[in-house]
Amino acid sequence: MKITVIGAGNVGATAAQRIAEKELANEVVLVDIVEGVPQGKGLDMYESAPVEGFDTMVTGTNSYDATAGSDIVVITAGIPRKPGMSRDDLLNTNAGIIKSVTEQVAAKSPNTILIVVSNPLDVMVHVAQKVSGFPRNRVIGMAGVLDTARFRSFIAMELKVSVEDITSLILGGHGDSMVPLARYTSVAGIPLTELMSQDKIDAIVKRAQNGGIEIVNFLKTGSAFYAPSSAAVQMVESIVKDKKRILPCAVMLNGEYGIKDTVVGVPVKLGRSGMEQILEIKLTLEENAALKKSADEVKLNMDKVKF
Ligand code: LAC
Repeated sequence: MKITVIGAGNVGATAAQRIAEKELANEVVLVDIVEGVPQGKGLDMYESAPVEGFDTMVTGTNSYDATAGSDIVVITAGIPRKPGMSRDDLLNTNAGIIKSVTEQVAAKSPNTILIVVSNPLDVMVHVAQKVSGFPRNRVIGMAGVLDTARFRSFIAMELKVSVEDITSLILGGHGDSMVPLARYTSVAGIPLTELMSQDKIDAIVKRAQNGGIEIVNFLKTGSAFYAPSSAAVQMVESIVKDKKRILPCAVMLNGEYGIKDTVVGVPVKLGRSGMEQILEIKLTLEENAALKKSADEVKLNMDKVKF
């Protein structure tokens, strides 16, 4: 198993570290355009191996040659948000970066599975899919796992219970219009709606929707990376181990949920061949309307983006 991570910034480097520490691959290649940074971080990471006890080889490079034959490529390249910016403000800058990265990745690893992490997430999945020409099951966006992780941590904080007992589902684009589904959220099987007032649930939904900007406002010079890298690596793990986990991920819809030619987050099964199934669940009229609205917002940017 060979895994490449494109972008040696906070998200990319932390993802590479988590992949190595979990020994999800024999080899991790960290790529960045900045000279010395991927080499330095890669070597530094590998020098932690004797202490952490992993045998994954980590190397850093500025060239795509070393990425040839990767089974999975995690794309984190691009610029992050600053306070006052929405994810959509990154649209054309990051589209250009994702285009160039995807071309080079696809040329060296034509059979790889792409996990896209760069923002605005849903549109970048579309760009990567168009540029690579890969089938939709091999171009998957990381957003829902992060958004549900935030939702789950806020619920755990409020109820003072283990995060491990909370399962949840968030649909839609990775933006303010994402759709956290309280009805599909449970604590050790107990519906959330039985444990929390609607007011509290609404407040937590709002906080999850603004979870990205909450961190940006603290950090000021960048965006979140611990939780985003964890989320991406959970997707990697499900693919590497063929676990067939059901995780909310951004994929191109082809009529599912009544949505066509638009990338949004839906529950999917992740296994060795990538996205193996889209699960279509029953939604209330209100939930369905919220999902459509979120999809429409993504579609607007998909039509607008230049690459
Ligand atoms: C976030 C950014 C990275 O949600 O999209 O933190």
